Amino acid sequence: MCGIVGYTGTREARDILIDGLKKLEYRGYDSAGVALQQDGELVITKAAGSVADLEKKLVNNSKNINMGIGHTRWATHGRPSDQNAPPHSSASGEISIVHNGIIENHRFLRKWLTEEAGYTFRSETDTEVLVHLIEEHYTGDLLDAVLEAISGVEGSYALVAASSREPGRLVCARQDSPLIVGFGEGENFIASDIPALLAHTRKTCILEDGEFASLTAESVEIYDAEGRLLEKETFEVTWDIEAAEKNGYKHFMLKEIMEQPVAIRETMRQRIDAAKGKVDPTELDFSSEELARLEKIYIVACGTAYHAGLIGKVVVEQLAGIPVEVDVASEFRYRNPMLGENQLAIVISQSGETADTLAALRLARSKGVKVLAITNVVGSTVSREADQVLFTWAGPEIAVASTKAYLTQLIVLYLVALYLGEGRGTLEPGQSAELVEGLLALPEQLKAILSEENTAKLCAYCDHLSGWGSAFFIGRNLDYPVAMEGALKLKEISYIHAEACAAGELKHGPLALIEEGLPVIALVTQEAVLDKTLSNIQEINARGGAVFAITQEGFDDVGRQASSVFTIPPVNDILAPVLSVVPTQLIAYYAALARGSSVDKPRNLAKSVTVE
Ligand code: AGP
Repeated sequence: MCGIVGYTGTREARDILIDGLKKLEYRGYDSAGVALQQDGELVITKAAGSVADLEKKLVNNSKNINMGIGHTRWATHGRPSDQNAPPHSSASGEISIVHNGIIENHRFLRKWLTEEAGYTFRSETDTEVLVHLIEEHYTGDLLDAVLEAISGVEGSYALVAASSREPGRLVCARQDSPLIVGFGEGENFIASDIPALLAHTRKTCILEDGEFASLTAESVEIYDAEGRLLEKETFEVTWDIEAAEKNGYKHFMLKEIMEQPVAIRETMRQRIDAAKGKVDPTELDFSSEELARLEKIYIVACGTAYHAGLIGKVVVEQLAGIPVEVDVASEFRYRNPMLGENQLAIVISQSGETADTLAALRLARSKGVKVLAITNVVGSTVSREADQVLFTWAGPEIAVASTKAYLTQLIVLYLVALYLGEGRGTLEPGQSAELVEGLLALPEQLKAILSEENTAKLCAYCDHLSGWGSAFFIGRNLDYPVAMEGALKLKEISYIHAEACAAGELKHGPLALIEEGLPVIALVTQEAVLDKTLSNIQEINARGGAVFAITQEGFDDVGRQASSVFTIPPVNDILAPVLSVVPTQLIAYYAALARGSSVDKPRNLAKSVTVE
């Protein structure tokens, strides 16, 4: 997630901005920059690297600079580079902006600005569209220009603009990406997150979606989209720095679990045409002939990403009618897979740096097989070496245990499956529209699952679970990969040994392990195999196992059979994994809390396994 800091006052802006950007480094970024108001100009300094690199470039900067804006960029459009690094300036150099978010209609706006208004672009970013739009509308008042420019923009933004013609003034706009005003004495601040403000002030005000702000050293004015002045309440921040970096949550993992509704919405943003009921991942570029000729897809990944691939297999086979083979990368790279013509390899990697996955990508490409990467990190090695890339846009994932990145991987796989199905004509009539509608409903359904009542219920269950040294996860069809992911989550952060078992396999051995009270978490969301899974639950009950079932509202028999039950909102079975995995994430989290393990940094594990 990008970090934004703005300052206007009487103190040294450069140091305040650099310190503020350092407080936001935990959010993850790949480049940084500042625009400083200096001798009647806005002087830009950028670094395609760390804030420390940026600071070195500023060391000879003159003093008495009392206003500026700074930005740490988490790349979405355009890889990390100097020209893509923020801030971005208008053609005249009189206006500079920093922006966090995704401008959905940036292609249209860029085309208009280039062909109709004669602007030339220096970067690949969607942000640069904004600064030229603001200049296009500037007639002497920066707030008016920003209001005008924003009225033609679709997407998410946290925007801070400055003009050399209006020294000491910052103009801000917020839609879907956070912006917080900090009130000082003879100085004021704007930032994308509280940690950047705490060294200077605890008196703050959160801009809401659709609101604008104009800051000077002596005043803060907040407006609605029509330019009407608003009376906003301020609030006193009581958090310390560490709590603020986690947005008040106890751990990054919990913060990232709670961010999932926004994360999947960002993943879908700009890739679904709701009006037509179709997906439109414009980054994909396969000819209709290529799609028609496709005979096999390999999905290759590690760990949690591998579990996403298992879901992807079922979904792609069902919607696109192409056989899919899923491998863990460490096996794929050494088993001499039968790679050949009319195949596609899909590699999935949150970090984009996992050694085995990278090796698998290179093996596939060496055999002439086109590679599509699904990754969360722009500029990562996997994203640079693949033939095509779909970014998950989950924002940086800090906790070692992957949650929001995994969920956005699932979303991307649904988009790919629908894209392939559409291109190959294998979708049933109305199926695309039905699934698009289901996908768009997921963020709100996730919010319902993440309610305080539900999290309390899962926390209470973990009081029982955390006392056990082992646990089972069972499921059939799409529930089985979710069971595997749930088992991995529990293992990797609570250190409880957990095994995922295809429910139909219990009788072939694992049932011997069922004993009185043993925790068994059953995923039961697939109606087609509901009765079969109910039978498995009865087998477990008969041997004293304690079944905690995760099922859909309306699957009432499950509640009658299981010792306890957690229901997810009714959902198309094929989309159920996006919802049913979330209770398993929270179970792992609360079990780890109860056992006192290190939730964000579990023992023996790294966030990115860059060695074999
Ligand atoms: C996920 O919770 C684990 N930390 C781990 O399995 C991870 O998914 C795996 O190492 C793959 O990482 P990647 O997605 O960055 O390639």
